[in-house]
Amino acid sequence: MESNSASAFDIEGYLRRQSSIIDQALEMQLARYPGESQTLFQVLRYGVFSGGKRIRPILTIAAAEIFGADAKHILPFACAVELIHAYSLIHDDLPALDNDDLRRGKPTAHKVYGEGMALLAGDALLTEAFRIMSDTQTARQLAPEFVLDAIRELAQAAGALGLVGGQALDLEAEERDVDLPIVEMIHVRKTGALILASVRIGARLGGASDGNLASLSRYGEYLGLAFQIADDLLDANAGVAVEERAESSRMERKKATYPSVVGLVIARARLAELLQLSLRELDGFELRGQPLVAIARHIAGRAIHLDDAGTH
Ligand code: IPE
Ligand code: IPE
Ligand code: MG
Ligand code: MG
Repeated sequence: MESNSASAFDIEGYLRRQSSIIDQALEMQLARYPGESQTLFQVLRYGVFSGGKRIRPILTIAAAEIFGADAKHILPFACAVELIHAYSLIHDDLPALDNDDLRRGKPTAHKVYGEGMALLAGDALLTEAFRIMSDTQTARQLAPEFVLDAIRELAQAAGALGLVGGQALDLEAEERDVDLPIVEMIHVRKTGALILASVRIGARLGGASDGNLASLSRYGEYLGLAFQIADDLLDANAGVAVEERAESSRMERKKATYPSVVGLVIARARLAELLQLSLRELDGFELRGQPLVAIARHIAGRAIHLDDAGTH
């Protein structure tokens, strides 16, 4: 029996509403640039506005709202998280890393604008994230120690011990056989760290107590690992739409994934287990935790319920 029932919660509607709020905020942040005709600005906007699901910034807002925070004050930080994500995908697709031609059904940034511009747009997005968080107008809305906490959380998650470190381990794992603990470590860093930070930043800015922050951190850790397993299951599954599968050259490049190391059945079981573990952490929040419950179910659900023939 799943805890914290969210059956009445309209997750599709919630995600649609929240992502449109995030899109508007991102538009505002990125519209401040003069001279959008310059290629760099075109490329970074191409990376940001090409159909991302906005799951990470939605997590940030949802975690903050548990504690009654006003989303308006959280949005710049939610945008910063999404810009780090957008940068990581532009770089991830480059020939030097995953060498992918398609992302979200469209040609990858380097395919459209060239490798140099894609590299620079990623650099710019990474840097902009920190500009936005430390912007004087943003900082004026919140206590300085909250702003500093958020900046530190995001720096740790994005850096050598987080996303970038995970990408490096992911690259090295192409050259050798890896066991499950290594696969988990790679996932936790390359994908989990930013998802965990998304939740923690929201919780901290919302004013979570230490105990609540600890519960939400465990939720974020389980969800972060679950997210990558779900993504790899969907990629590996024969039933996934051809255009979606074509986005990943991971199988050809012998990527270390849960399905490739332990098979689809065990990967799916682990995903189901992680979902339950993540939901248990939300029990104490009762109705206020509903959006986070529904987001976790939404992320894991599609991949858990695939059968072996790949149908839902
Ligand atoms: C894709 O993340 C990359 C992984 C970490 C697996 P998302 O599935 O959140 O990407 P978009 O932004 O919604 O396309
Ligand atoms: C996800 O990379 C993690 C980062 C980009 C940091 P993957 O290579 O596993 O994800 P997709 O399949 O390209 O989205
Ligand atoms: Mg990759
Ligand atoms: Mg990739």
